[in-house]
Formats: sequence, C-alpha cells, structure tokens
Amino acid sequence: MSSKVIGFISEKGGVGKTTACYHIAIALERYYKKKVLVIDTDYQRGGITCKLIPSLMENFQKGEIPYKNIYHKFQNLYADSEININLEIQKGKFNIDIIPSDPKLNRVSVDKLPGERDVSKLSLNRYKHLSVIKNAIIPYIYEYDYILIDTHPEISDLLDCVIYACDYCVSPVKLDRQSSVGVASAVEAINNVNKNVEQLSRVLSITNAKKTDFLGAIVMMAREYSEELIYTMQQEKSQLNMFGVFDNYVTEGDGIRIAARSYVPVYDVEGENADKQSKQFKSLTREFIRKCV
Ligand SMILES: Nc1ncnc2c1ncn2[C@@H]1O[C@H](COP(=O)(O)OP(=O)(O)OP(=O)(O)O)[C@@H](O)[C@H]1O
Ligand SMILES: [Mg+2]
Repeated sequence: MSSKVIGFISEKGGVGKTTACYHIAIALERYYKKKVLVIDTDYQRGGITCKLIPSLMENFQKGEIPYKNIYHKFQNLYADSEININLEIQKGKFNIDIIPSDPKLNRVSVDKLPGERDVSKLSLNRYKHLSVIKNAIIPYIYEYDYILIDTHPEISDLLDCVIYACDYCVSPVKLDRQSSVGVASAVEAINNVNKNVEQLSRVLSITNAKKTDFLGAIVMMAREYSEELIYTMQQEKSQLNMFGVFDNYVTEGDGIRIAARSYVPVYDVEGENADKQSKQFKSLTREFIRKCV
C-alpha cells in the first residue's frame, strides 16, 4: 500500500501545527508500528527539523542545510535543469525519518518560473511547479505508511504545493474567537488548489489528478472543567463541525511545555499532566489513522 500523505496547515501561527505533527508522527511509529517520514517545509522556524535532528539547529540558523531537500527540487525547476536530484532523507530521533526544512524555501514562488508567452506552456510550467513536492515523494510512497508535512503559517505558492502533494490536510486550532477563521482559510486554500488543479488538468489533458480532502480541525490547547471542555470552547468546537473536527483533543498544560524544553515528546515525560496529554495524543492518533482511509 502506498503512503498516506497528510499536511498540517493553518495560516495562524502558534496554534500547535508542529506540536501535533511531531506527537502524531511519534505515536504512529511507537504505538501503532507505522513507518513515518516527516517533511518540514517551515522555512522560518524549522521547528520539527530541530526537534528530530537537534544538531541541525545551527545549520538552520546560518541558512545552510547540508542535505538535498525540497528546496533543491524547486531550484532545479527554476533553472530549467534536467538533472535528477535525489532527496537526502535523514534518520531523525525516535525512529522518524525526515526531510529537513531549508530556510531558502522562502524563495519558492511561481514568479521564478522561466518566462513564457504560450498559454499551454505557461499552464504546463504552473502544473510542474504545483507538482514539485508531489513528484519529489513519489519514489518513497511504498516505503512509508505515513508522510506528514509540517508547514509555515502562511498561504503561499509553497503551501499550494504542499496541499497538492497531500491526500489530506488537518488544521490544528486553538479554540478562541478567531479559530474558525484559521480553519475556514485552510479549507479555502485546499478548495483553491483543487480548483486550480482541475483547470490545469483540463488545459493539459491530465486525467489522473487527485483532489486533496480536508480531514478535520484538531483542537490543541483545550481547557476543561470537570473533565469536560469548558462551555465557550464547546461552542467554538461545534462551530467547526461544518468543516469537520476531530472528536479527540489535547488540553493545554505543562506536560507538553516540559517535554518541549527537554527535546522529547510528552510520552517521555513523567507526571499527571504529561500522562493525560500522552493519552490524549494516543487517542487522537488512533482517530487520525481511522480517518485516513
Ligand atoms: N497542549 C499544549 N499545552 C501547552 N503548550 C502547548 C500545547 N500545544 C502546543 N503548545 C506550545 O505552544 C507553542 C506553539 O505551538 P507550535 O509551535 O506547535 O505551533 P505552530 O502552529 O507550529 O506555530 P508556528 O505557526 O509558529 O509554526 C509551543 O511553544 C508549544 O510547545
Ligand atoms: Mg510550527
């Protein structure tokens, strides 16, 4: 079976994309015996890259990633080069493979494509751009059960390529007043990519283009009262039903903060709160597997 490819997207920063991606990746591997590849496209923080390969933090800050990564695939396209570049997948901590992020991914833009007047060639170039990540992972889709992609909080040409590479996207969310905005814009970004692909497919007579589906919002940093979500959050959560929302959620708490400080997942931290968040992530991951049919 080929891998399920899932993107963690939201144009809102600090909602828990990286935390969710990291914990679900480790839970898939550790508790559900799945083979997992993480692709980091967050060119600004490279958060999951540094969590899985701490020694790369310095390289990331200097802007020099020593391995061939997704950026090199775009560079190749912009240079109109036929040379095949092999991605250098790294072994990260906790038995998770990773394609590290590259700060240069901030240069990704359709404006860098070679100029073209001919409409069908222009469409072809656009389609090649949109397909960069999708094509880059084709050689690995029988090697992994899941490929998870972490992203930067911004709607961009790069995000479009992530969405097109994915079977599904999820959108982590804090249940505050603006949470529905973050989820709605993620769903809109997916719809736009699907429309764009449909149009390009028509012009280019492509028959096998697949749609990306929204799998649901994932509530992170929830607050409870007597083991129940607090009332205002229940209301916010039910507002998200129109897009789809995971039943399981993760509560806000020190377990995850302590884990982050020690460069480990919350599963490896002791204490009541950490235990609770660990259980929540395991249940969330079970639901994630069930939803990724
Ligand atoms: N359930 C939680 N309890 C406590 N802290 C949390 C929880 N979830 C996430 N955090 C913390 O919130 C902060 C933001 O989380 P994270 O980096 O995962 O968000 P993000 O959406 O990836 O942000 P960005 O958009 O900047 O990449 C981090 O410091 C993380 O440790
Ligand atoms: Mg992040």
